[in-house]
Amino acid sequence: MKIVIANETHFKYAQIICDTIADSAKVRGTGIAKRTPEYIQKRLQNGNAVIALDGDTFAGFCYIEVWGHEKFVANSGLIVHPDYRNQGLAKRIKKRIFDLSREKFPDAKIFGITTGLAVMKMNYELGYKPVTFSELTDDPEFWKGCQTCKNFDILTRTERKMCLCTGMLYDANALPKTNAKKKPDSKVFERLKSIKETLLLRKDKSK
Ligand SMILES: CC(C)(COP(=O)(O)OP(=O)(O)OC[C@H]1O[C@@H](n2cnc3c(N)ncnc32)[C@H](O)[C@@H]1OP(=O)(O)O)[C@@H](O)C(=O)NCCC(=O)NCCS
Repeated sequence: MKIVIANETHFKYAQIICDTIADSAKVRGTGIAKRTPEYIQKRLQNGNAVIALDGDTFAGFCYIEVWGHEKFVANSGLIVHPDYRNQGLAKRIKKRIFDLSREKFPDAKIFGITTGLAVMKMNYELGYKPVTFSELTDDPEFWKGCQTCKNFDILTRTERKMCLCTGMLYDANALPKTNAKKKPDSKVFERLKSIKETLLLRKDKSK
């Protein structure tokens, strides 16, 4: 398995990346923003994405997006093909894209929004903290990306203050000066997720 910085030679994988994202969204039945092959190709060509390949076979993908004039970057679109899950591949991809983000945009805060417990765990281990949406970028283009998520009405209804996703932020300047390795308590994330679903989805139904 190799994890490399993507370029034009990887355009042929754009379709399978989109299909894997769309299929996973269906299976999870929860919010994942849909992406077109053209959108993915743009991410593949600007040196801001990593792709995991098993020989020539697609295994995983993630990309960096730059917001608010490089004040923020997001690590988005993490996907591992079902044939390669539960082997630590997402963790390796996450680490690679995180290191690339730090190298290319050393002054930016790194953030993500997710409903995925696996992603929350991985982010936490990398030093991200859960934050309110007000601490993330206010770049409208970022939030437009949520339009294809099935929970977009919740984000609109709450005036972008909250949604089922949890915002997580890595701010190198705000980190404690210690090397102690952080182990996340998954139960906390599971509880947070369940509270949000109860609160936001019930309100949604009673509209
Ligand atoms: C989420 C996803 C990327 C995980 O990929 P993976 O390669 O199987 O993950 P890893 O094997 O590297 O596991 C990383 C950690 O997450 C945990 N994890 C993996 N899947 C999980 C799940 N469904 N629920 C809770 N934790 C999970 C693992 O136990 C591991 O934690 P540990 O280090 O404490 O053991 C993959 O399932 C996927 O592509 N899902 C669909 C798309 C998606 O949800 N993307 C996130 C967008 S918000």
